Amino acid sequence: MILTMKILVTGASGLLGSRLVKELLSKGNEVIALHNRNPVPVRHEKLVKVRLDIADGTLLEDLILRVRPDVIVHAAAYTDVDGCERDRVRAWRVNVGATRRIVRAARVVKSHLIYVSTDYVFDGEKGMYGEEDTPNPINYYGLTKLVGEELVRASDLLHTIVRPSTIYGVGGSKKSFAEYVAEKLSRGEKVYALVDQYVSPTQNTLLAKAVAEIVEMRFMGTLHVAGERMNRYQFAVKVAEALELPAELIEKASIKDMKHWVAKRPRDSSLDTSKAMALLKTKFHDTSLALELFREEWLGGKGR
Ligand SMILES: NC(=O)c1ccc[n+]([C@@H]2O[C@H](COP(=O)([O-])OP(=O)(O)OC[C@H]3O[C@@H](n4cnc5c(N)ncnc54)[C@H](OP(=O)(O)O)[C@@H]3O)[C@@H](O)[C@H]2O)c1
Repeated sequence: MILTMKILVTGASGLLGSRLVKELLSKGNEVIALHNRNPVPVRHEKLVKVRLDIADGTLLEDLILRVRPDVIVHAAAYTDVDGCERDRVRAWRVNVGATRRIVRAARVVKSHLIYVSTDYVFDGEKGMYGEEDTPNPINYYGLTKLVGEELVRASDLLHTIVRPSTIYGVGGSKKSFAEYVAEKLSRGEKVYALVDQYVSPTQNTLLAKAVAEIVEMRFMGTLHVAGERMNRYQFAVKVAEALELPAELIEKASIKDMKHWVAKRPRDSSLDTSKAMALLKTKFHDTSLALELFREEWLGGKGR
């Protein structure tokens, strides 16, 4: 028998959150979806949407205390890496302050807290990071996300910290790199992609399915849930090939050309996902499957 739950999702209008809400509803769960500036693109009788700024006062805590969710998936964050460097006050309020309040309220109502973190907690000097490797963020975004992790880890809550890397897909309010590549190439425009930044591109639908599995399994600890290691140029070429778009329009670029970047980026923040691969059924690591899903979603009305 599958038990359905009451699940609160923050960041429900985002790249991950919008897919996660659909996935959790498809399993019969009740979902309370939090968003702020952008809408949640889903309708369902078991879905309640709440618009609120999680960095603002005690609204979020009050909501958690009233709703008493079995599970909270905290996927909201100020994810603009350069923006976090420029506006450190906002980055701290959203990524740290809100997480602290979620932890406080979740302890009262005893929710399972799933905190979505990032590969940017690592400095990128090593690559293929395992869950036990020591974080050492090199930008403010990474630092705030790491402080969020520590707040969750230090609590006495049943908690899971999920670290993806370079999330892509359709469906969120923000355009992912893969969508940007697809749109530029389909207009016959050149795309510049880095050959010296390595990541583990993570498709949002597969990530959402993996998180939904974690909800059911109630795993405690940290898990790397991400795709295969590749550089951004290789990734752009794979996207082009999957969509049968002209890969020859993709030009190689280097980190040293990125003069407009305000924040430093890790050189190789790829993640070792063997622990999650052994634990979860979802094939989140399968690049062909991920790109097939991306193709279907992109062609099917661009997911928007
Ligand atoms: N994107 C990546 O490449 C990446 C890589 C690794 C890890 N992550 C982590 O994965 C998680 C999901 O990322 P994503 O790419 O899905 O994010 P995203 O598309 O940038 O969306 C961010 C979400 O956070 C919400 N949010 C931001 N500030 C808020 C505020 N003050 N009050 C309420 N909601 C707020 C946004 O709501 P509105 O849009 O409605 O304002 C949106 O739903 C994040 O925790 C991120 O740190 C992302």
